[in-house]
Amino acid sequence: MVTNDDLRTQYGIDTTHEWIHQRTGIEERRYAEDGVGSADMGFEAAKIAIQRAGLTPRDIDMILFATLSPEHHFPGSGVFMQRKFAELFEGDMPKYVPAMDIRNQCSGFLYGLGTASSMVQSGALKHVLVVGGETHSAALDMTTRGRTVTSLFGDGAGAVVVSATDDPKRGVRKWHLGADGRFAEALWMPVWDIRKKPFVNLPHGRDGKAEIDPGTLWPQMDGKQVFRHAVEKMCMSLMQVCFDQSLSANDIDLFVFHQANMRINTYVADTLGIPQDKLIHNIHKYGNTTAATIPLLLAEAEETGRLKPGMKVAMVAFGSGFTWGAAIADW
Ligand code: ACO
Repeated sequence: MVTNDDLRTQYGIDTTHEWIHQRTGIEERRYAEDGVGSADMGFEAAKIAIQRAGLTPRDIDMILFATLSPEHHFPGSGVFMQRKFAELFEGDMPKYVPAMDIRNQCSGFLYGLGTASSMVQSGALKHVLVVGGETHSAALDMTTRGRTVTSLFGDGAGAVVVSATDDPKRGVRKWHLGADGRFAEALWMPVWDIRKKPFVNLPHGRDGKAEIDPGTLWPQMDGKQVFRHAVEKMCMSLMQVCFDQSLSANDIDLFVFHQANMRINTYVADTLGIPQDKLIHNIHKYGNTTAATIPLLLAEAEETGRLKPGMKVAMVAFGSGFTWGAAIADW
């Protein structure tokens, strides 16, 4: 656990708890230990999700792994996590479960949820595991130069199983996704622009090691632009799924918003007239865990009794790309 004060005292970043808390609502975040990656955390979350679904890993027909912080450039975290399941069976691979990464940043989980629900509704698959897992701490600028971005992000993973059902009162009722690539550079990590052939043209240092412009290594963000678009697109996407289903805020039992920034979520809730008691948050504990925020919230809501079978849940997210999405589910 790394508190806002720890960023100053342990990492030497010129910041204060008050600055971060007032602007984002974040009090602390988690950083994975060395050697732990997104697939490791995703695996732990997935095991719990499968167990709570009353299934075993052998029942899973497909893995969708949403992450912006995979262990490697390729292959993706999905196959590394799939290998961990194979190890559970002592090397016996019961079936070659397909695994696919979804690279849609903060919206990745909802892109996965939409894809998974379409797969089960089409009858092609029965049980799709959707995981959101992030190890941001491995690629944050832990100096004052990077303080705006660094103070926002934390590590974590969450998972759900989307299953086929004959019960018309359960399942993902509606989803909506969107993207606007004109703003790709408003929140991105510019390193390895493949068009510039970085591996070929990279200058080499005297010791033979590759030199990279450190400025391109870290996430870069136009915070104000992200804020403005996040509020607009989250409202738009949420309204789209609700109108389609003729639902108002009164009909929704629980709103699960992506945890990027408490102020973004307050704006969205106020704009749409959503009462605070229908919203859940945990950004103060985990910061922004990107693709993991929504499944982390769902898990906590279930554990604390806020989320019960029969409830109608509305989810919404916005992130780098820009990408966004919303979904309504009957739990
Ligand atoms: N501690 C202390 N000072 C800081 C820190 C920090 N952690 N970070 C930035 N500052 C300073 C800046 O250096 C700047 O100082 P200056 O005026 O001397 O240059 C000053 O604070 C203001 O900086 P701004 O970037 O203008 O601060 P702003 O009010 O825009 O707040 C914030 C920044 C909180 C990031 C805001 O823009 C925001 O919330 N944007 C949304 C971004 C977001 O949520 N991204 C998450 C990922 S995308 C997603 O998940 C939706």
